[in-house]
Amino acid sequence: MKTENILVIGGTGKTGRRIVAQLKALGHNVRIGSRSATPAFDWHQPEDWSKTVEGMDKIYITYQPDLAVPGALEAIEELVKAAKRANIKKLVLLSGKGEREAQLCEQVVIHSGIDYTIVRASWFNQNFSENFLLEPILEGVVALPQAEAQIPWVDTNDIAEVATKALTEETHNGQIYELTGPRTLTFEDAVAEMAKASNRDITFIPISIQEYGEGMRKAGLPEDFIWLIEYLFTEVLGNPELAEVSHDIEKVLGRKPIDFSDYAKATVATGVWDPKSLA
Ligand SMILES: NC(=O)c1ccc[n+]([C@@H]2O[C@H](COP(=O)([O-])OP(=O)(O)OC[C@H]3O[C@@H](n4cnc5c(N)ncnc54)[C@H](OP(=O)(O)O)[C@@H]3O)[C@@H](O)[C@H]2O)c1
Repeated sequence: MKTENILVIGGTGKTGRRIVAQLKALGHNVRIGSRSATPAFDWHQPEDWSKTVEGMDKIYITYQPDLAVPGALEAIEELVKAAKRANIKKLVLLSGKGEREAQLCEQVVIHSGIDYTIVRASWFNQNFSENFLLEPILEGVVALPQAEAQIPWVDTNDIAEVATKALTEETHNGQIYELTGPRTLTFEDAVAEMAKASNRDITFIPISIQEYGEGMRKAGLPEDFIWLIEYLFTEVLGNPELAEVSHDIEKVLGRKPIDFSDYAKATVATGVWDPKSLA
């Protein structure tokens, strides 16, 4: 196997850090693209991107905070230009299932003239342990809108394994992989799985989008964050395409995707859901 130089943008994040570990284990040279890396990479500072991209062979792209936000399309266009100037041979883009705006960004990568794989993922299991849904789990009360939405939760360990293969094996060039778990669960189902695994009472309360927005405003969260959360809960969770279970993980990895109940058991063992960590 040839050792390659691979840039992982968001390389300390939920998917990125798992990919970094796998690529290093395979013997590749990995550069992390993030604001705290050296050289620093910031999606808001395109004038500095060439320093990060220079000397790399391949790039894993996670955009921040989401491909649906205003400015994402232009940023992906700029990154593709920088990648072409640096003679990058492969792009792997993390995109969102059921997210129409993200698909416009996919088109930029697809038509870049560079080999590519699109990894179009459903909502992550790890939103409950490494993201905005951790706090309500710790507090034991999860109040969310879209209680009816059927979500095929996907594990970031599976996403990372697929993305690592996409980065290192040519057979995945030109593919769009839709990554989901093996079944759909509503928020209430997911909360029940986590309560069972952690042997705690965790209550689910269905609320409206309006109530959720008001709660976030009362908590003083920034308006652009509230806009994104409202977008995700209306446009993405309201899109029936999101609910379709895909078999692409099994196709690429030759095994079944990780089930939410196994994620819940493994996460309990890490201690991250121990309410004592709130103190
Ligand atoms: N969560 C979901 O359910 C879900 C589902 C489908 C798709 N997605 C997509 O997944 C992507 C996020 O991937 P992820 O969850 O693996 O990452 P993440 O955990 O959100 O990653 C945070 C990473 O991004 C870096 N970062 C933050 N702000 C940055 C900025 N302005 N410029 C450069 N780097 C920045 C962080 O490092 P520093 O702090 O050092 O900069 C860190 O490495 C988003 O595009 C989202 O749309 C998410």
